[in-house]
Amino acid sequence: MAGPPCAELHLHIEGTLEPELIFDLAERNGISLPYSDLDELRARYEFTDLQSFLDLYYRNMDVLRTEADFADMTRAYLRRAAAAGVRHSEIMMDPQAHLARGVALETCVNGVASALADSESEFGISTGLIAAFLRDRPAEEALEVLEQLLDMEAPIIGIGLDSAEVGHPPSGFVDLYERARAAGLRRIAHAGEEGPPGYITEALDLLGAERIDHGIRCMEDDALVQRLAAEQVPLTVCPLSNVRLRAVDTLKDHPLPAMLARGLNVCVNSDDPAYFGGYVDENFAQLGRTFTFTADDLARLAVNSVRSAFIGAERRSALL
Ligand code: HPA
Ligand code: ZN
Repeated sequence: MAGPPCAELHLHIEGTLEPELIFDLAERNGISLPYSDLDELRARYEFTDLQSFLDLYYRNMDVLRTEADFADMTRAYLRRAAAAGVRHSEIMMDPQAHLARGVALETCVNGVASALADSESEFGISTGLIAAFLRDRPAEEALEVLEQLLDMEAPIIGIGLDSAEVGHPPSGFVDLYERARAAGLRRIAHAGEEGPPGYITEALDLLGAERIDHGIRCMEDDALVQRLAAEQVPLTVCPLSNVRLRAVDTLKDHPLPAMLARGLNVCVNSDDPAYFGGYVDENFAQLGRTFTFTADDLARLAVNSVRSAFIGAERRSALL
């Protein structure tokens, strides 16, 4: 089953850094890697939970040093996403992860943004850039970085909240989200990936999140499912990510079919495709081999992605 043309709404650009590009950028920047070859690096891609993935994800992004590095990574993603059937992509980046290792905000923002600027003409993909904040770092730091992004007029459409979820509830980031709202930015947040259903409620009620990234643990709380269905809150589900980070045991155990059956506004996304075994098309291909989706289900997943995107009416109708 090929992926239907769709919007990708849950994608970390640093999670598109493929092993080959890690080696290329290390060489370009004179960095010596702690792996002797690609096989040795790939052998590390066995994760037990979110944190075990994040450890490698933050370590590998150290090869990103210049604007050209960020632009090359972004262009490689867009090329691959176009082949996967993606027509619109809202892309998160983690500015704090780069600042913490001495890379200037301008370097990462301008590098990614320069590739996005040519995306429609080069790849037929419209895009939006979202600054994601690391929930396992201090909220004051996130607010400072947001102010810097606003001062430099970074071309962002919104903010997100990612990194280690458990023990870092949305309630710690009320000021950040209020500042983003006041600045006219859209707001999304990871919730209910490893964290409890209550984090989804907090993200909606305390942060004003307009979309929930993952959200799969909502299925443990029937009243929450009813609310999410009634309000048609978009849930950007990432099936292969959930398998690789052991949020579910196998793809067969994934709640996506049950979520569709409950009338939730779910769509399919790749999250960190270089780490989790595939882009959006591979997510659809494996879902198709595991479940029996009707043509109607598949159409609904694609339509949900487009109607949940932060785009104007004209682009939306062009994509539907
Ligand atoms: N979850 C939380 N934080 C992240 C992820 C994820 O899947 N990928 C990059 N940062
Ligand atoms: Zn994510």
